[in-house]
Formats: sequence, C-alpha cells, structure tokens
Amino acid sequence: MSKGFIPPKPEARADKVSIFTHIKLFRKDIFASQPAKLYRAWMAEFRLPFFKSYFINDPDLVEHVLKKDPDNFPKSEIIKGALYSLLGDSVFVTNGEVWKRQRRIIDPAFEGGRLRDVFPSMLNAGQAAVARLDGLADGRAVEVEEQASQMAADIIFRTLFSIPITDDVAKQVFDKFREYQRTQPLLNIASFLKTPNWIPRLQSKRTRQTSADIRALLTKLTEDRYALIKAGKAPDDLATKIMTTKDPVTGKTFTPAEMVDQVAIFFLAGHETSASALAWTLYLLAVDSEVQERVAKEVAGVEELTFANLSKLRFTRDVFREALRLYPPVPMMIRETLQPEVFRKRQIKVGSQIVLSPWHIQRHERLWDRPDVFDPDRWKTKETRLCARKAYMPFSAGQRACTGAGFAMIEGVLMLAMILRAFKLEPTGDVPIPVAHLTVRSKDGIYLKFTKRGSDTTLKQKA
Ligand code: HEM
Repeated sequence: MSKGFIPPKPEARADKVSIFTHIKLFRKDIFASQPAKLYRAWMAEFRLPFFKSYFINDPDLVEHVLKKDPDNFPKSEIIKGALYSLLGDSVFVTNGEVWKRQRRIIDPAFEGGRLRDVFPSMLNAGQAAVARLDGLADGRAVEVEEQASQMAADIIFRTLFSIPITDDVAKQVFDKFREYQRTQPLLNIASFLKTPNWIPRLQSKRTRQTSADIRALLTKLTEDRYALIKAGKAPDDLATKIMTTKDPVTGKTFTPAEMVDQVAIFFLAGHETSASALAWTLYLLAVDSEVQERVAKEVAGVEELTFANLSKLRFTRDVFREALRLYPPVPMMIRETLQPEVFRKRQIKVGSQIVLSPWHIQRHERLWDRPDVFDPDRWKTKETRLCARKAYMPFSAGQRACTGAGFAMIEGVLMLAMILRAFKLEPTGDVPIPVAHLTVRSKDGIYLKFTKRGSDTTLKQKA
C-alpha cells in the first residue's frame, strides 16, 4: 500500500510583510499572499486595512454560515459585478427569492435518475477524449489541463444540448471562453474581494466584447432549442428538462433570457471546475505509480463501464475524493454579512466579507492527519470520514452547495476509469505550481507522458 507523497503546495508568504507587498502578492495570486499560519488558524482577519474580511476555518462557524443561517450570509454583490458581463443573473450570483426560484427549476435536472439518463453522453465524450489522447500517447509531453478542459467542455455540451465539442457553435463558445480567460488574466479570487476603488478593476473593452460574443452564441443555442421544444422535436437532455420545468411555486418556466444566464453558468461552472479536478488527479496518479496501477487494476476488473458498475470503482472514487481534498477546484468562497455577528468573541460588522476556504480547511493541520499527503487510502478510515463531515467541502455545503456535485462525481470517476484503462501516465519532471485563478490551476500547465496500455485497451465501452 502506498504511503503517499506530498504533492506541490504554493509557498506561503512570510508572516509579516508590508502592505504594498501584500497588495502586490494578493493581486497576483491569492495563495501567494497567504501566510502559513492560515493552515493552523480557526479564524483570521484579512490583513488589508480598507475593508473587513474574515477567513473562517472553524468548522462550527463554517456550518453556521453555510448551513444554519445561510440567508444571512448571501453572496456578495462584488461577485456579481465581476462576472456580470458573462453570467448576467445566473443562479451562481443571485440571492434571496430570485435564487430560490432558480434552484427550484434547476435542481430536478440534476437528480439521480436524470444523471443515469445523461450517462451515455458522458461515455461518448470519454470515448472521444480517449481517441484524441491515443494520437498523443507516444511518450511525448502532453499538456493535461488543455486536454481536460476540452473533455469537460465536451461533456457539458453533450449532456446539456446533445452536441459534441466539435459542433461549430460549441467549438466557438469554447474558443471564445479561452479568449475571455486570456483577456481577463487577473480574474482570480482576489478580484471578488472588496478592494478600494483606487485599485483598478480590470474589465477591458475586449473582455466585455468577448462576453457579449459568448452570450450571443449561447442565445442562439437556447433559442434554437425553444423552437425545437415548441415543435415537439427536442432531444431529452438537460437543456430541455430545465427549459420545460415549471417552478412548483409560481408555475412559471424560465424565460429565454433567464435561460441564457443559466446556460452560461453551466458552461463555466461545469467545465472549468471538472477540468481542474481531472487535471490534478491525473498528475497525482502519474507521480504515484503504485496508486495508478491499483486504479488501473480496479478498472480492468469491471467488465463494462456502465452507470451501475461505477459504484464498484471504490478506490478510483477515493482517489478522486483525495484529489478534490488537496486541489479543490473552487479554492475559496465569499459571503457577506447582512447583520452584526459575533465570531469567536469578535464583533463582525454588517457588510463584512467572510471567506470560506476549502483549500485551507481541507489541509488544516489541526483537523487532518498528514494534511498535505496524497493518500487515497485515508478514505477507508472512520477517522477520515468523521473529519470529512466537518472539514471537507469541495462542492460547498448547505442550500447553496454545487448543483452539479453528483454529476461531477460520476464524470470524474468515469473519465479517470476510461483514461486509466487505455493509458499509462508518467510525469515529465516539470512540477506544476498551483495558482488560484477562477479555479485552481497550474501556473505553467501540467505536462504528463501518455503511453498505451496494450492490447487489452478497448475503446468499445458500452453505455
Ligand atoms: C469537480 C467539479 C465541481 C466542483 C469542485 C464544483 C464546486 C462548486 C462550488 C464550491 C460551488 C459553490 C460556490 C460558492 O458558493 O461560491 C459550486 C456552485 C455551483 N456549481 Fe459546481 N462544481 C463542480 C462541477 C459542477 C458542474 C458539473 C456543474 C453543472 C453542470 C456545476 C454547477 C454549479 C452551479 C450552477 C453552482 C451555483 C449553485 C448556487 O449558487 O446555488 N458545478 N460548485
């Protein structure tokens, strides 16, 4: 059994730095601006003097904010502002009654039975990904983040709109989205925190134009689908389900404009996060060859990759869970206080920013045993499962937890199984440096070598 290894962790800053150094680090990458003591602290005040921001790692406080009293800790307007040109009033950024209504319409599309229905589309995307990688599996260095992005975007398009990433409109959305990320290099978590007005907020004309282009493409997809629904010819996928679901309270469906906002967040939240998770998991497997072989063996023991058979891949699932612990794609979440609060005997004023950090709580030195070690076997122990109840939240928790959590767990395990069934992975020697962009990414990409596993490799997995 593997004893585990310590994969890359960003270097923490010194405990004391000047305010200018802090701002510089903060704007560059929020990980680099954090002191090591955050991995031990229960709570900390953010050290920028212009506003009050509190980091909370205390599991009881996290539970209070996310589960016990979530209506008093809404998402901050800043998040909405930072992403408005792309996401409009999507479920990711709204609050209160508007948000509740959106979730009532969206949630049924992600229930277990529907996930079973979209499984064949995921499988098709996996086969396409394996075929793409097959052409690169000669031992050369392959950039895995790029591959994972394409894979995850393909899954979203196939499950949502029944079209592959090679479809003309889907490809344009994907390309435009990459352009959006290039024009918005500073869109890291720091952009979502309150900063004084004299720190410029970068939303260049080009970024706004790219958002408008993406939304025009998504509007076309959505309008075409409304036409198909009206004609009774729409495929039975997630888009049709969401567009035809009536809110049980008001009896109304989404308007086309509202649906465009939701499609934008499904595309963004559904492919950026899964791509980040997959890329880091593949990296961990490449470095830990023993764990990799155990996954390959487990997968080889399952005759067909069906929806029902996925539950047999217990170790593969634990590997994915462990990767989500060490590299949670959404590293931090931000809420705002609506009323005065008292946290750990400290008075918290109205309008304060509350930072919840899956990154820190899932590597917390007072909560986890060997917190920085990649050890998927830990998930077999009762201690880990107990600890996870209060200190594991890659999908957040409570009423605002990720809509796509079940979807993402199926997708992750399936993609890993299909890739590991076909290929052996090896590191190239380049060590990725984690940075907190929209999701946790590697500063300069993740490079791995792929080679084919041999004649038992089959691309013929059936739905
Ligand atoms: C490994 C993959 C994923 C991870 C780690 C992840 C994580 C998260 C987290 C942490 C949040 C809460 C953010 C916050 O409160 O600020 C969230 C929200 C959300 N996620 Fe995911 N997500 C993943 C995949 C997906 C997928 C596949 C979809 C859809 C197809 C999706 C759709 C959403 C939506 C719509 C929200 C907003 C929910 C709300 O605010 O009510 N996510 N996700």
